Amino acid sequence: MSDFAELHYDGNVYKIPVVEGSEKEKALDISNLRASSGLITIDPGFKNTGSTTSAITFLDGEEGILRYRGYPIEQLAEKSTFLEVSYLIIYGALPTTEQLSTWKSEITYHTLIHEDFKRILEGFPSNSHPMGVLSSLVTSLTAFYPESLDPNRSADQVRISIIRLLAKMPTLAAWSFKNEIGHPTVYPNNNLDYTSNFLRMMFSTPAEEYEIDPVVTDALDKLLILHAEHEQNCSTSTVRIVGSSHASLYSSVSAGINALWGPLHGGANQAVIEMLEAIKADGGPGAVDKYLAKAKDKDDPFRLMGFGHRVYKNFDPRARIIKKAADNVLEKLGVNDPVLEIAKKLEEAALNDPYFVERKLYPNVDFYSGIIYRALGIPTNMFTVMFAMGRLPGWIAQWMEMRTNNEPIGRPRQVYTGETVRDYVDISKR
Ligand SMILES: CC(C)(COP(=O)(O)OP(=O)(O)OC[C@H]1O[C@@H](n2cnc3c(N)ncnc32)[C@H](O)[C@@H]1OP(=O)(O)O)[C@@H](O)C(=O)NCCC(=O)NCCS
Repeated sequence: MSDFAELHYDGNVYKIPVVEGSEKEKALDISNLRASSGLITIDPGFKNTGSTTSAITFLDGEEGILRYRGYPIEQLAEKSTFLEVSYLIIYGALPTTEQLSTWKSEITYHTLIHEDFKRILEGFPSNSHPMGVLSSLVTSLTAFYPESLDPNRSADQVRISIIRLLAKMPTLAAWSFKNEIGHPTVYPNNNLDYTSNFLRMMFSTPAEEYEIDPVVTDALDKLLILHAEHEQNCSTSTVRIVGSSHASLYSSVSAGINALWGPLHGGANQAVIEMLEAIKADGGPGAVDKYLAKAKDKDDPFRLMGFGHRVYKNFDPRARIIKKAADNVLEKLGVNDPVLEIAKKLEEAALNDPYFVERKLYPNVDFYSGIIYRALGIPTNMFTVMFAMGRLPGWIAQWMEMRTNNEPIGRPRQVYTGETVRDYVDISKR
């Protein structure tokens, strides 16, 4: 195999180095192309562009493979916990017993947030969407920990910022929800594990204590693992690009939360439930064909939410795990949710429809996750917040990798298609 490709252009030949990853993925390194040829490349949506090299996640969309730091997602979802997976993703290796115990203890003892956060919360209208509130609260951490703004931060400062962010995220997320429903906020309880603590802050009230159910905690912990990292997607690329200006970890992650919010990215889990509810109201399983036809109609903006993926063109391995988990959780909790039946019928119909087959559109991670969240009692507006909590270790690891590798500021180029030079015309003559 040649270690360079040749570009023939305008009578010249340019040699472009070929870069190979540890899983034999190949890429053309065009970083010097403009300097040598005057040409740039253009690729809207970065469909064919690698923005970086990364040692965190391996994803093969054609084969349906997802591995964090080399470990298959199926094994991690079955055997690990969210905090252990977070350590793995951020530091690159599974923790020893001692490392895990220190990690858990440090995260547990940073869950409390400054009382002034309550005053920030009070400033939001009480029905604000929790994603907007969460992103504001996360960036507000810079005000309480201004040392995190120092671009020459030491490794110790970075470590404590990471601990604080992971520890406080469930508190901030639960408080965003309490603000939305107008309930008093609930303080963390350090006797509880990460996921149970979050559920208690969401659901207990001064009038009633929340009873921890291991089925609910385990299911949520598994969902967090499945969402923990997914290489250079829209929100992660946002975190890296914001961080590349040497912005703080908190502001970079806050930007990632906003990117995740959109319905084409993390907002899809909420959109899936809304779509399934609409089908239910429109006749239930019998209306599936009508919605399939709408999704195929190019004059109709409707898309089958939870279907299709930029990189998975075979199946999304997370969707397989979640579909199994959905059956299991609903059965264990004794929940009979009619939208599960609609979802299964819709999936089957789409997988047998030439439109979806030809375009390689499969259910993605969001297709069944909303059904589980609902069975766990998590309201629709909080689905994307759950995704953000899960994705946090991924954002942190990618931010750290980008800074450790001292990557340059992210600044793509463009091909200008506007007016060429023209003279200013006085307003009276226009
Ligand atoms: C995820 C997604 C944004 C990927 O987009 P993408 O890689 O840019 O793919 P495109 O939008 O170019 O889609 C390719 C083709 O499939 C069609 N398509 C993609 N997803 C579709 C969907 N969910 N329903 C109907 N058609 C879809 C497009 O219309 C396009 O058709 P065309 O070739 O006839 O024009 C897209 O599949 C989508 O919008 N899915 C629904 C939202 C969702 O579930 N997001 C969560 C992702 S984890």
